[in-house]
Amino acid sequence: MKLSVTSIFISMMIVSGGRCAPTSQPKLSANAASRQMSPSTGQAFGAAYFITNEPSGNVLIAADIASNGKLTLRRAFDVGGLGAHGLSASVGPDPLFAQGSVKASSAGNIVATVNPGSNTLAVFSINPNDATSLQMIGKPVGSGGEFPMSLTINKAGNTVCALNGGAVNGVGCFKVDPKQGLVPIANTVRSLGLNQTTPATGPAGSASHIIFSEDNSQLIASVKGVPHSPDSLPSSANAIAGQSATCWSSFSPKTGNFFLTDIGTSTITEVNVDANLKGTIVKQYPQTAGSATIDNDVATVNGNDFLYVLAPNATSIDVLALPAAGKATSIQKVDIAGPVRSAGITISANNLQGMTTFVRK
Ligand SMILES: *[C@@H]1O[C@H](CO)[C@@H](O)[C@H](O)[C@H]1NC(C)=O
Ligand SMILES: *[C@@H]1O[C@H](CO)[C@@H](O)[C@H](O)[C@H]1NC(C)=O
Repeated sequence: MKLSVTSIFISMMIVSGGRCAPTSQPKLSANAASRQMSPSTGQAFGAAYFITNEPSGNVLIAADIASNGKLTLRRAFDVGGLGAHGLSASVGPDPLFAQGSVKASSAGNIVATVNPGSNTLAVFSINPNDATSLQMIGKPVGSGGEFPMSLTINKAGNTVCALNGGAVNGVGCFKVDPKQGLVPIANTVRSLGLNQTTPATGPAGSASHIIFSEDNSQLIASVKGVPHSPDSLPSSANAIAGQSATCWSSFSPKTGNFFLTDIGTSTITEVNVDANLKGTIVKQYPQTAGSATIDNDVATVNGNDFLYVLAPNATSIDVLALPAAGKATSIQKVDIAGPVRSAGITISANNLQGMTTFVRK
């Protein structure tokens, strides 16, 4: 008799729907290893992370989060692999057609990222007292498929699961070993059976996002639909008037609301979901026109919530304070291009991706 015990049961749900279409845009310059963009203030409560996802070399950028929620770009780290841009009719921002390409865990003091052009994943340990100080654990490992584009970390912070969106697509899970880094968990690779390419073709019909269910017993992978003629909305759906491609969301514990971003309208939409799962739009917050708001995350700093939104077409990050429902306020527009270019790192509006935050426990 064979007893095989795994802490995760991959009974996978696949959710399909929506479209997420980007458009065209220009380039910036040069290349990097591990470098500093600004000195430590010693006052950081946490950090925000995103990736350059450049095909010439993927770099993870780490910014301090101060007690007032504001960011300072601090350090950049080679991820030991390459970025990639998916294939689409018009090439623009949101290269991976994805949310969750970088994820941090304060339970595990780790940040993990994909290398979509190398079919690998990498994990770094975070120094909780200086959260932009990272150390890669082990080496990048094969993602269990092609074009890895989304990650999720369990509550305990010791298991990472990846979604691959390429010709070899599906999910795979990894233990976080303190010395070796990501170690594949046997029998966790599941195919999604998508008829895809490497790099993935999208946005329509491409993989989107992977998350653990709240109790960590299931993995949920979402895949975008392929739009036909006017679709009828399911009864629980709530249309956002004037939307173009609302594709990313984060939950704010302080306000009890979700914050959604639209790449096409560069607008943030605050949504309340009630106990019967009925959604209501609370308020909309237009950001800089054409900035292409994509990945976002909420951090609770000193009991206050802040929203961090990657706006790649403006090579910037929008920071909003979330003091209460319906009261989001812009507090900072963080320039990425200046500090990153000064550090000699290549970035381009079309390749930037990801946004995840870490706040020390
Ligand atoms: C997969 O997609 C390609 C390109 O669209 C198409 O030519 C092919 O017939 C598809 N294969 C299957 C099995 O659906
Ligand atoms: C990005 O900026 C370019 C002009 O610089 C614009 O043509 C394009 O529409 C913008 N893309 C998005 C998604 O806003």
